[in-house]
Amino acid sequence: MQMSDPGKGPLWKAPTTDGAQHPLPDGAEDDDFCNALLAGLATIPKQVSCKFFYDAEGSALFDRICTLPEYYPTRVEFALLERHAAELAGLIGPDVELVEFGAGSGRKVRRLLDALQRPRAYVPVDISGEHLQQAAGRLRADYPRLEIRPVVADYTRAFDLPASLPGAQRRVGFFPGSTIGNFAPEEATGFLGMAAVLLEGGGLLIGVDLVKEPALLHAAYNDSAGVTAAFNKNLLARANRELGADFTDDGFAHYAFYQPLARRVEMHLVSLAAQRVRVAGREFRFAAGETLHTENSYKYTIDGFRSLAEQAGFVPRGYWIDAARLFSLHWLEVA
Ligand code: AVI
Repeated sequence: MQMSDPGKGPLWKAPTTDGAQHPLPDGAEDDDFCNALLAGLATIPKQVSCKFFYDAEGSALFDRICTLPEYYPTRVEFALLERHAAELAGLIGPDVELVEFGAGSGRKVRRLLDALQRPRAYVPVDISGEHLQQAAGRLRADYPRLEIRPVVADYTRAFDLPASLPGAQRRVGFFPGSTIGNFAPEEATGFLGMAAVLLEGGGLLIGVDLVKEPALLHAAYNDSAGVTAAFNKNLLARANRELGADFTDDGFAHYAFYQPLARRVEMHLVSLAAQRVRVAGREFRFAAGETLHTENSYKYTIDGFRSLAEQAGFVPRGYWIDAARLFSLHWLEVA
């Protein structure tokens, strides 16, 4: 999620773990893992953007998280798509260009494509060209009549879409998985504002995780198989692999909890002892119990999300939730 088109500045600062604006050292690129980690280890509290979770190992661990019994978002969102596919297709309309922010496993977008009337093009936007080509290749084989137009870009920053195909009625965005929750609310408004410009005259179908009983959130981010812990700790392993860091596996523990006032799940890596670590030749101290804050995952109420979307230039047209009120899908049209 981190590269940007040279010459185009970020619409807002890249997601930080506490929503605060963190000054970067002169010349530092906040989309570079090394610079971001060095800067984040030098701040109090220590923090690093969750976008750095997703190297090959981290992406594979995230795919496993999506299959866990405790991690309800993937399962519930897919069931909502499945259940309401015909109604969604009616609202979205025929002959659209479907723009997906982030190239997922393809399972959700296939469900949508299967329901749409004569979709003209599928435009997955992702920072990882390799990931995009794999996703595009799989879809091309199964949808030979669909134009697949991958765009390598960091969708958290300004980027351009290819010109619309002749005959396409409108552009429709698809942003599933509640990835919007990994932005602080003001960053989420910035992202939605950019999407409203890109999708002019069209709409956005977006998955949003809901505020709920803290015990359910606790279980979802502290699964019994330890996959989320491994996902979180992979960030340290990645620093060891890529930056010559010397984090030890037993020196840090996964720590995730729901913060009801901020309506977010926070993930941290907590230092189990006073220790020094080296990263890219620099030394940092951790006190016992000090944490590296690695992710926020904001949860919304239906009304709270709809008013955020309105502030960003959308008209909320409809939403769907499961019977247990765990997760929501929203259909927004550009105002
Ligand atoms: C990608 N994102 C929406 C996930 C979430 O729930 O915030 C990432 C994740 N972190 C821990 N488990 C899953």
